[in-house]
Amino acid sequence: MAINTQVQDGIARIELARPERKNAITAEMYGQLAEALAAAAQDDAVRAIVVHGASTVFCAGNDIQDFLERPPLSEGSSAVRFMKALAAQEKPVIAAVNGAAVGIGTTLLMHCDLVYCADDAMFSMPFVSLGLCPEFASSLLVPLSAGYHKAAEKLLLGEPISAEEALEMGLVNRLVPPGQVLEYAMHQARRFRALPPVAVRQTKRLLKAGWRVAVQQAMDGELETFGRLLGSPEAREALSAFLERRKPDFSRVQPG
Ligand code: COA
Repeated sequence: MAINTQVQDGIARIELARPERKNAITAEMYGQLAEALAAAAQDDAVRAIVVHGASTVFCAGNDIQDFLERPPLSEGSSAVRFMKALAAQEKPVIAAVNGAAVGIGTTLLMHCDLVYCADDAMFSMPFVSLGLCPEFASSLLVPLSAGYHKAAEKLLLGEPISAEEALEMGLVNRLVPPGQVLEYAMHQARRFRALPPVAVRQTKRLLKAGWRVAVQQAMDGELETFGRLLGSPEAREALSAFLERRKPDFSRVQPG
């Protein structure tokens, strides 16, 4: 099992635990994540959810082998089920990020309520260099949070984002010394146990109400484009190059 879940003292903890692949997420893991979120939503004892990875890496993105063999982004796929469940989650979701958060590892943070990261964490959304495009409403939520020009730099050029820059861009709440991130996230999660749960849920709903429909529309538009690009010669060259540990060569790729 590459996902560990635990419910204790009103907090559901969901851990990405596939260290040999730097917590890259497979179709099976998306399914487990979706189930873990549904279980936390249904359990009245759960007041907050904490999502975290390892002490050295949060998530290396979608598993690239899976991208080639089992394209994850059709409607009804486990990736879509998980991300829609995260976007619609009524209870507070808190993320603790150590190390790298790549691709969906960064995208999923935009659907969490509170994000804490190590001061040496690194984020990136290298979709274009993989021949792909933003996913799960990041084309809407990054500019909303960071402004258009910063979003263009990070999404068009795929520039890495340092922890400090992520703070400036509004992608994270606070930088924490490495080694203390999960404990800080758990501390913040425990604060929800002392708060009235219905007021917390209704406030979260209201906070997101202004762009809920736009998020849905962005997700649907991105899904359609992402699915098309995933089958393109550009993406196949980029993804194969990653697995073969070589630089991609787009000079021989015919634009579709
Ligand atoms: N899918 C499949 N395998 C992956 C992976 C992914 N997304 N990310 C890492 N791995 C594998 C590597 O191929 C390597 O396998 P190997 O041991 O068989 O050679 C193993 O995990 C360790 O990764 P490595 O790159 O050697 O670790 P690192 O510590 O040097 O770097 C990362 C860690 C996270 C910075 C780097 O792996 C990375 O950038 N991965 C992201 C890939 C990506 O572009 N994801 C976005 C998808 S949208």
